Amino acid sequence: MTLTNIYINNFIRDLKKIKKIKESRLSMSQKQPTWYEQQMIKDMMGLFGGKAIRGITSSFRSPKLYIGKTGILSMAGDLEAFIDKENRRALIITDSFTKKFASKVTESLEYCEVDYRIYSNIEPEVPLINIEDGVKICEEFKPTAIIAIGGGSVMDAAKVIMLKYEKPETNLYMLLPLGSPLGLRKKIRYLIAIPTTSGTGSEVTNAAVLTDTNRTPYKKFEITWPELVPDIAILDTDFVEDMPPFLTKGTGLDALAHAVGSYVSNWGTPLIDALNLTAIRETVKYLPRAYKYGKGDIEARSHMQMAATLAGLGFGNSLPGIDHSLGHSFGKIFNVHHGLAVGLFLPYSLGFQAKVTDRWKDLCPIFGVEPGNKDRDTLFKDFLGALNDFIHSIDGPTCVKDLNEPTINKDEYMNKIVLLAEYAEDDAVSLLSYRPMTVSLYKKIFEYAWDGKNIDF
Ligand SMILES: [Fe+2]
Repeated sequence: MTLTNIYINNFIRDLKKIKKIKESRLSMSQKQPTWYEQQMIKDMMGLFGGKAIRGITSSFRSPKLYIGKTGILSMAGDLEAFIDKENRRALIITDSFTKKFASKVTESLEYCEVDYRIYSNIEPEVPLINIEDGVKICEEFKPTAIIAIGGGSVMDAAKVIMLKYEKPETNLYMLLPLGSPLGLRKKIRYLIAIPTTSGTGSEVTNAAVLTDTNRTPYKKFEITWPELVPDIAILDTDFVEDMPPFLTKGTGLDALAHAVGSYVSNWGTPLIDALNLTAIRETVKYLPRAYKYGKGDIEARSHMQMAATLAGLGFGNSLPGIDHSLGHSFGKIFNVHHGLAVGLFLPYSLGFQAKVTDRWKDLCPIFGVEPGNKDRDTLFKDFLGALNDFIHSIDGPTCVKDLNEPTINKDEYMNKIVLLAEYAEDDAVSLLSYRPMTVSLYKKIFEYAWDGKNIDF
């Protein structure tokens, strides 16, 4: 028996232990750590974070994509064709900002004789109460389709509302994504995602990030489950053209972090590499235009919309980098936009990862850095310089002290640095970092990020 087989057998044995915990079926309102915070899982995944796991198993999941102005009608046509008229009911999920887009969808639903209801109370970062309220509406209205129109929070909420409506007994804290299927889609036949920002990639991923309001302070709460991948995603620039510059910048940096983190990591395949590389090229070319000209440059908007989806398919079928564990912790504790937070930590994540991989070298030409005869250290320094310049070109910060949306006091940052490190180390992304993470390593990265010190460990 090979060492890898032994690891897998031990892992399956431990999964059975986890399943017993999972079957305890605790409700959402009980305070509880997630599966990825269990020390046993951390120990096992530390082994799997290395190259040993790559190639043993992989899958690629994607929704059906409708791109362009006919996407909405095509989606409604699917509901008409595949769901009997008496069962044709769609719950539209939005928030206070994106509910204005619902009318772009309801016209086609009416044409295809789909009954609908609108739930527009999703709050940023999705507190658990939003899930409970959405499930109650589902129990009353009994939709056969859920249509999420919004940014990452709305799409993430829609995924988990579907999950808890279909399988109310599921313990969200123990949803280990290697278990057997839950058997979703018995009630909700179609989960449909229409993004109104260009960056989160949630329209194509199996992931949802909520806020665990049972923790003090609140903590990001990640759920990844294969059956959460939407069935249909619609990319129509009508839904993103009005994004304000701050949102264009933040969500664009999120897309960049997804693609770069995933490409440089150990978990890709040639298929995923192709998606990530195109996403990075498109972002470098079109994000500055989209940020500068907004609605005045629909070509840039369209390319960024596609780049975000490509990056979503890339990291959604592999993993993002530890910029996401750093950014999740930092964003939650200091109330910083997700994309801005992960963009800020991308240079540090790369600096840390570059100690054990050369995959970043493939990205140098995209950022205009030619290897020439440079030694490795010089080339990496030039690459990081070009990445920092790119982020600065759209007024993005690359160190905490330069952040102005919001500004952060140094003493407060340093006082919270242990909590920042602990939350990052307990993040699901940390679990599969191919360079094993510890609280002390995270603490050091957070210290370096205050004033932009290059990672040297
Ligand atoms: Fe992200």
